[in-house]
Amino acid sequence: MNPEHAPLRKHEFDGICEYDNPTPGWWHALFIVSIIFSFFYYVYYEGNRDAATIWSQLDAAQTEETKRIFGAMGELQPDAATLVMLMGDEKMMKVGAGMYQSACAACHAKDGGGINGVNLTDNHYKNAASIEDLFRVITEGAGSGAMPSWRNNYSQNERVLLAAFVASLRGTTPSSPRQAEGEVIPSWPTGGK
Ligand code: HEC
Repeated sequence: MNPEHAPLRKHEFDGICEYDNPTPGWWHALFIVSIIFSFFYYVYYEGNRDAATIWSQLDAAQTEETKRIFGAMGELQPDAATLVMLMGDEKMMKVGAGMYQSACAACHAKDGGGINGVNLTDNHYKNAASIEDLFRVITEGAGSGAMPSWRNNYSQNERVLLAAFVASLRGTTPSSPRQAEGEVIPSWPTGGK
């Protein structure tokens, strides 16, 4: 608005007056709309655990991409070299961790310390004498079904990845470990090629 036509406001300071020249209606509308929007934005993103963050979106995209690469790898062999190679692959371990959290954590605990299922972080193993045995136990089950067989739930590649992830739990420190069971077995082989 042209200040010439705006009314003068009543107050004065040191001889300085000001025009009553308010911000336009559309500006106020925008201001109010952004306040209302921020309310819903805040409630949605702060109050909702499932709301996507840029980090969760990045994670999802990376997992998707790793799965694609995984599918293109051909059939992985459950041998020591493959397992050790996968253990050293951070992206693959992330995918393995995802499967572990959804299928195994209920019995073996999120950090592998064990609940009904045995502790997977210590050096004692009940059904395994070598790294390859982890794949066999995951595939066939153990303890007369106390540890279920995952043959029908996961493809061979997925079970190989699960075995590698379980192997990677060895030597980590769980928050409330179950007591050790079984025999101490030799460390995993290193430097898979
Ligand atoms: C219903 C509970 C349950 C679930 C779910 C479960 N386990 Fe187990 N798991 C067990 C029990 C119990 C044992 C010990 C079996 C025994 O006493 O010989 C075991 C043993 C194992 C062992 C052998 C450890 C050792 O010391 O010999 C591995 C490896 C293993 N589980 C991996 C997994 C993986 C990977 C998953 C997810 C795909 C999984 N488990 C899901 C209960 C479970």
